[in-house]
Amino acid sequence: MQEFDPQVLNEKPIAPPPEFQRRARIRSLDEYGKLYERAKNDPEGFWGEQAKMLDWFEPPKKILEWDVPHAKWFIGGKLNVSYNCLDRHLATNGKKVALHWEGEDGKRVRLTYAEMHERVCRFANALLGLGVKTGDCVAVYMPMIPELPIALLACARIGAIHSVIFGGFSAIALIDRIGDAKSKILITADGGYRRGHVVPLKETADKAVESCPTIEKMIVVKRTGEEVAWTQGRDLWWHELEQKASPHCPAPSFDSEQPLYILYTSGTTGKPKGVLHTTAGYLLGAMYTTQLVFDLRDDDVYWCTADVGWVTGHSYLVYGPLANCTTCVMYEGAPDFPKKDRFWEIIERYKVSIFYSSATAVRAFMAWGNDWVTKHDLSSVRLLGTVGEPINPAAWKWYFDVVGQKRCPIVDTWWQTETGAIMISPLPGATPTKPGSATLPLPGVITRVVTMQGESVAPGETGYLIIEKPWPSMLRTIFGDDERFKRDYWSRIPGVYFTGDAAQCDADGYIWVLGRVDDVIKVAGHRLSSMEIESALVSHPSVAEAAVVARPDEIKGEAIVCFVTLRSGHSHSAALQTALIEHVAVTIGSIARPSEVRFADLLPKTRSGKIMRRLLRELAEKGGVSGDVTTLEDMGVIQKLASAKALDEE
Ligand code: WTA
Repeated sequence: MQEFDPQVLNEKPIAPPPEFQRRARIRSLDEYGKLYERAKNDPEGFWGEQAKMLDWFEPPKKILEWDVPHAKWFIGGKLNVSYNCLDRHLATNGKKVALHWEGEDGKRVRLTYAEMHERVCRFANALLGLGVKTGDCVAVYMPMIPELPIALLACARIGAIHSVIFGGFSAIALIDRIGDAKSKILITADGGYRRGHVVPLKETADKAVESCPTIEKMIVVKRTGEEVAWTQGRDLWWHELEQKASPHCPAPSFDSEQPLYILYTSGTTGKPKGVLHTTAGYLLGAMYTTQLVFDLRDDDVYWCTADVGWVTGHSYLVYGPLANCTTCVMYEGAPDFPKKDRFWEIIERYKVSIFYSSATAVRAFMAWGNDWVTKHDLSSVRLLGTVGEPINPAAWKWYFDVVGQKRCPIVDTWWQTETGAIMISPLPGATPTKPGSATLPLPGVITRVVTMQGESVAPGETGYLIIEKPWPSMLRTIFGDDERFKRDYWSRIPGVYFTGDAAQCDADGYIWVLGRVDDVIKVAGHRLSSMEIESALVSHPSVAEAAVVARPDEIKGEAIVCFVTLRSGHSHSAALQTALIEHVAVTIGSIARPSEVRFADLLPKTRSGKIMRRLLRELAEKGGVSGDVTTLEDMGVIQKLASAKALDEE
C-alpha cells in the first residue's frame, strides 16, 4: 500500500492549465458537478441519454434491470460493436487514419478506417469459414501488432467471445485460461519483438495446445519470419486466410447483453478469474470515458501504451478510441529499445497529442533522466494520463514538469478489469488536480470510502473503496463461477461492489487510492496474485510451503518477495534460489518473476494455521516486525526469518 506524507493532503490543488481549459469539453468544477448530480439523481435517464452515442440497430426498450448483483443494461437493444467502431465512420471518415503502428524493429503500418474495416471483414469471414459461431470462445495470444485489434474486432463482428491472454504468460498459464473458457481457436504469431529479442509465442502456444483438447485450429500471424513448427491440419497462416476471404461481411445485430469478451485477472485464490464483459454497456463505458477523460477532439493523435493483454489495452487502445473514430498509435516493443527515448521519438514522429501510460513507466523515465525527454519536440502533446497503480507525487510532478512542460493536465485514472472503464479521474479541463490523487468519480459513478460495516469513514481516515450503484461497463459475472462473483465483490459489504482497494477521502472529497487490501500484487501495473505464485512455488519438488508478499519498489511500485520452507533433504543454496525464481517464471510467465526468494524453517502462522502475511510484508520491507503479534503461533519464527535475511545478505 502506498504510504504518503499527510502533508500531501494539504497541498494546494493545481488548476487546469488555462489554455487547455479554454478549449475543453467540460471547463469547470461547477459544470462537472451539475453533470454528476444529474447522473446521480436520475442514473437511468442519464445513461439512456449517453447511450445515444452508440449506433443501435434497435434502440433499447429499458435501460436497467438490477437484481443485485446481476445487472442487465439497455434491454431489448440490438447493435454490433465492430459496426460501432468501424462501419459507422466510413462515410465521413473512411480515409482518416485509425492506426499508426510501429514495430520494435522499425517496421511501420498505417491503416485508415476503410482499410481497417476491410481487414476486419476479411478476418471475420475467415473465422466464419472455420466454423466459429456466435458465443464461441476464441483465445488470442499475440504480440502488439495490427492483427491484434483486427482479431478482436473480427470476433466482435460475428459475436464470438475473445479471451486475450497476455504474451508474457507461460504455456501453463495458457492451458488454464484456454481450458476454463473452452476456446476453440487460438490466434497467435510466430513471434514478437521485445528488446531486440524474438519472443517465441508459437513455440509456447504449441506446448500449451498439447494439453488443450478444445482447440481445433491455431491461426498464426507471420511477424518475425523465424522458422516455426507446423501441425498440418491444425495450424493456418493468418495471411493466407485473410487473402482468401471476402472483404464483405455484414455486421449482424446482437443483443445488448451478448458476451463480448472474457479477460482473466488475478484474485485472492490461485485460480485466475475470467471477468465477463458484455456488448452495449461495455462499449458505452469505454466510449463515454474516452471522450470525457481524454477530452477527445477530432484531430487528436492518441497513444495508450498499454498491452492489449490487459484491460487498459482493450478499453483504451481498441474499443474506446475506435468507437470515437480516433487516430491511435500502437507500438510493439520496449520503451528503452534501441535507446531510452523510443517513446519520445514516437510522440515526435506521429505528433501524439494524448499520451496515456503507467505509473511504472513514468517512474522509469524519471530514473533515466530528463535529457532523453527534452531532446525531442513534444509540443504536440496536450494531455497526459496514468493508470494501473498509485502514482507517487514526485513522479506525478516530474511527468507534469518535464513531459508536459506544465502545459498538459494529468489524468490519474482509477479503474479495474472488473469496472471495464475509468471510474475515478479528473476531467482535464475542469478538475484541479492533486499529485497522487485520482480525484473525483466520473458522472454516473457513485463511490464511497467505508468501514467493513459499510459506514463512511471521516476525511483522512483509511477505509475500503466501494461502488454503490451499478454502471453500464461493470463485469456481469466471473465466467463459469457466479458464486465467486457474488462472494468476491458483492457480499463483503452486502449489496455494494467491493473494489478490494483501500482509500482515503480528503476534506475536498478527493479520493486517494492506497492499494489493495487483498492478496493481489501489482508489479509494474501487472496484476498478480500471491496465491498463484505460491502454488507455482509449491509445485517445485524442493518446496514444502511458500508465502508470497509484496514489498514497495521504487520503479515497479511493488516487487515480489517469496518466503519458502524446503522439504527435508533439500538445503538452502543460492542455486536453489535462482532455480525457484526461474520455476515461477516458467510456470506463470516472466511477468511474475520474483525479486527475492528467502528460505525459512517455518512460516509465521496464527493459531488457526493462517499465514501471517502482515508480518511477512513488514519483514520484507523493513527487515523486522513491530505491532501486535499476540496470535502468532511461534514467536521464534520471526526471529529466525529476520536472521535468515541476514544470512542471505552475508
Ligand atoms: C490499481 C487496471 C491507484 C488498483 C486498469 C485497482 C490504481 C487495480 C489506479 C486494478 C490508480 C488502477 N491509482 N491504483 N489510478 N488504477 N489501480 O484490474 O489497486 O489490472 O484495484 O486494472 O489497479 O488493476 P487491473
